[in-house]
Amino acid sequence: MKVLVLGGGGREHALCWKLKQSPLLSELYCAPGNPGIAELADLVPIRAEDSSELAEFAAGLGVGLTVVGPEVPLSMGLVDEFERRGLLVFGPSARAAELEGSKVFAKQFMERHAIPTAAFEVVHDEREARRAAKRFGFPVVLKADGLAAGKGVLIAAGSAELEAALVALFEERQFGSASARVVVEECLQGEEVSILALSDGSRLLPLATSKDYKRIGEEDSGPNTGGMGAHSPSMVLTSEQGSEILDRVMRPTVAGMANENRTFRGVLYAGVMMTADGPRVLEFNVRFGDPETQPLMMRMEGDLLPVLLAGARGDFGSAKVGFRQEAAACVVLASEGYPGSPVKGEPITGIEEARRQPRVEIFHAGTTIVDDTLVTHGGRVLSACATGANLADALRRAYLTAAQVDWPSKLYRRDIGRRVIELTSSN
Ligand code: AMP
Ligand code: GLY
Repeated sequence: MKVLVLGGGGREHALCWKLKQSPLLSELYCAPGNPGIAELADLVPIRAEDSSELAEFAAGLGVGLTVVGPEVPLSMGLVDEFERRGLLVFGPSARAAELEGSKVFAKQFMERHAIPTAAFEVVHDEREARRAAKRFGFPVVLKADGLAAGKGVLIAAGSAELEAALVALFEERQFGSASARVVVEECLQGEEVSILALSDGSRLLPLATSKDYKRIGEEDSGPNTGGMGAHSPSMVLTSEQGSEILDRVMRPTVAGMANENRTFRGVLYAGVMMTADGPRVLEFNVRFGDPETQPLMMRMEGDLLPVLLAGARGDFGSAKVGFRQEAAACVVLASEGYPGSPVKGEPITGIEEARRQPRVEIFHAGTTIVDDTLVTHGGRVLSACATGANLADALRRAYLTAAQVDWPSKLYRRDIGRRVIELTSSN
C-alpha cells in the first residue's frame, strides 16, 4: 500500500520511521517532509495546508492511506476534502478538530459531558476578563480561543501580568482573530501527563502514557515552546490513574463527540493535570503530540499501518497496539533564539557517529540541505531519542546523543525526566 504522511517535523519523521517498517507498505510519501524523512520517503513539495493539491496528488498516485501530523490542515478541513474524494485518511474532520481548534468549544463540550477540567469563563473584552480573573484569583490562566501555535496560553501571577496579557490579547491582538473570545480559567497545580489514544469514531486504542516538557528553560522556567523533550512512560501515573483518565476523560469524549454529530476519528490527545482532586483536562489536541510521538513510536510493538488504516475506515476490528516494557526518551535540540526567532543556517556535525549507537534514533525537524551540507533551519532542529531498560537508561543514551550532535547555537534542556526519576526513586 502507498502511504502519504503530511507534515515535516520530528513527529512526522518518527511516524515515517515506524510506518516504513510495515510489511504492508509499498511506497512512502511525505509532504513536505525534511532531510531526515528523505532517507525513508519520497518527498512531495506540497504544503500540508494545500488540501486540494494534496488530494489531487493522493488520488493520482493511488495513495491508500494518508496520515496527518499537524493541526492546522485538520482544522481547515483536509480530512473532509479527502473523504469527499473517497480517499482514506486517518484524522478528524474539521468539525471534530474543533476540540483543539476552539478552546471555547472544548471547555463547553467538557462542561456538557461532565469531563473534569479547570473552572472557567468565556470573556469577550478586558472588563469581563478582569471580572473573571477576580473570581478565580491569582495565578489565573488566559487562553485565546483559536489556534495560536501553542503560544496562546498566558498565565498571570498578579495584576501587572494580567494587564499585560489583556493588552496582548485584546489590544495588540497578538493572536489575531484567535483571541476574539478568551477563556479565563483557574490555575491548576500538579503533574502534567500526555494521554494519547487512537479513535475509530467509537472505540479507543490507548497508547502508552507520556510526558512532555513544554517550557524552554530547566525546572520548567521561561516561555512555553512546542516541547523540549518527552518520555514514555510518563512515570507519574499509576495504572489505576491511567484507567481513571480513560474512563472519565477519553471514553466520554469520543462518545460525546459521536452524540454531537462530530464523530472523532484520529488521535485524541488529552493534556491532563493530576491535581490533588484527581485528573483535570488542560487541553485537547486532535493529532499526535510533538515530541511525545518520537518516544511512543520507538516503544510501539507491531505494525502501525493496519491500525491507522482500520481507524480511517471507521472500525478497528481486531487491530491492536502494544508497547514494549521499556522506556523511551527524547531530548529536543533547538537553536538559540527559540521559541522566538532562532539562529539558522549553521552546519550540523556528528549525526552519523551518533546514529551508530545502539537503541538511538535522531529525528529531524528544522533542518535543510545547503550545498550538500546539513544545516539548521528552524527552532526545534533535531530530536535525540533512545530506548532503554528503564527511563534512566533511555535518558543516558539520549543525552549522549544530544552531546555528540553539534552546531554553534545548539540549545537543549539538561533536565528532561530528572525530577520524575527522583520522585519515583524516593518513593
Ligand atoms: P494548553 O495549550 O491549554 O495545553 O496550555 C499550555 C500549557 O499551559 C499547559 O501544558 C500547561 O502547562 C499550562 N496550562 C494550561 N492551562 C492551565 C491551567 N488551567 N492551570 C495551570 N496550567 C495550565
Ligand atoms: N507536545 C505538545 C504538543 O504536541 O502540542
